[in-house]
Amino acid sequence: MIEELKRRNQAWVDGKTSGDPHYFDRLVEQQNPEYLWIGCADSRVPANEIVGMEPGELFVHRNVANLASPQDLNYLAVLQYSVEVLKVRHILVVGHYGCGGVRAALEYPDHGLVDNWIAPIRTLSEEHQAELAALPNEVARHNRLVELNVRRQAKQVAETPIVIKARAANSGWPHIHAWCYSLATGLVTDLDAPIPAPTPKRRRKAKFLGVFG
Ligand code: CO
Repeated sequence: MIEELKRRNQAWVDGKTSGDPHYFDRLVEQQNPEYLWIGCADSRVPANEIVGMEPGELFVHRNVANLASPQDLNYLAVLQYSVEVLKVRHILVVGHYGCGGVRAALEYPDHGLVDNWIAPIRTLSEEHQAELAALPNEVARHNRLVELNVRRQAKQVAETPIVIKARAANSGWPHIHAWCYSLATGLVTDLDAPIPAPTPKRRRKAKFLGVFG
């Protein structure tokens, strides 16, 4: 099995360099992505392929259920580097319908450590309990929670001191987008308009929290 992966790697290199011998030389020199993708680790949601991006064009952070928790140093390091050093213009927070991490948050917690990871989604579902309970079935509740989660995570990205500072300095960018990907069709849906900067009240709060972030 592993030998097969090595064989495919060689075939990929051959494919890239057959018409463009300096393909990898250019990539070694620098990466210049315009986009940061924050998505789910699900193997069916391959970031670059979905949006037709080549290596060097998309900075990617993936975890279970595409969380952007203000306490997660891994995500914050990716965010800071991509915003302040790479100067990405757009941040795409991408959830997907059928997300197992989101589904687990709707079930009784017996999935092991991942239950700790998805605790924020469980809290989110409790915040929207009335809306979710009014939906006709489990699939509808699950899909709605996927959307609510994407919007919440995108809002949290917008509220980081990193993004607030960058947007103030750069006339509004990076722009933040909340997307949902459909495993069934392969298409992404833009949930609504770009996520705005926090209100002045929220901004003061974020500035205070910035001591730690
Ligand atoms: Co998922």
